[in-house]
Amino acid sequence: MRLLILILATIITGAGVVAAQDAATPGQSQMRGNNDAIAALAAMAKGEKPYDQAAVDAAIARLEECARKLPTLYPESLKDAPATTRFSPSAKVWDDKAGFTAQITGFATAVADAKAKVKNIDTLNVSVGAIGKQCGDCHQTFRVRNG
Ligand code: HEC
Repeated sequence: MRLLILILATIITGAGVVAAQDAATPGQSQMRGNNDAIAALAAMAKGEKPYDQAAVDAAIARLEECARKLPTLYPESLKDAPATTRFSPSAKVWDDKAGFTAQITGFATAVADAKAKVKNIDTLNVSVGAIGKQCGDCHQTFRVRNG
């Protein structure tokens, strides 16, 4: 549980910083949606909000949408776009397509698993950790922090 909270804190804090900037790309706007969704799930997992199945379902639907769109969010034409925001895609998104696709698949699988299994706070805790790990794993290789 402690590890879970640490993982979530890293993901969500990183995003709070960028929230004030305008989303420059469809990828960024999807990622911000991810962030809102995981923040909603984390608030319940941490006991800051009561468990609410409708809110869980809405957050998972948001993550599902991103997982579905991710394969088309980074066309070749974006490869040389200048990084104007705090976070941007790494060149590896295009140079290691197989690796990027594997991360998308891992994320989609974790989200589908959550959709099938999350019915109460205990199953939510497990799934939030699994999804958060996928966010972090992909970012580690495929997202760059600029400054
Ligand atoms: C398959 C890879 C991948 C997965 C999975 C992924 N991300 Fe990202 N994320 C990226 C990339 C690439 C960027 C840089 C996006 C850009 O600038 O277009 C990014 C950027 C972000 C940003 C910064 C957006 C901005 O405004 O600049 C946030 C916040 C974020 N991700 C949150 C999440 C969360 C939360 C999850 C999990 C629920 C997640 N991401 C899952 C690849 C991923």
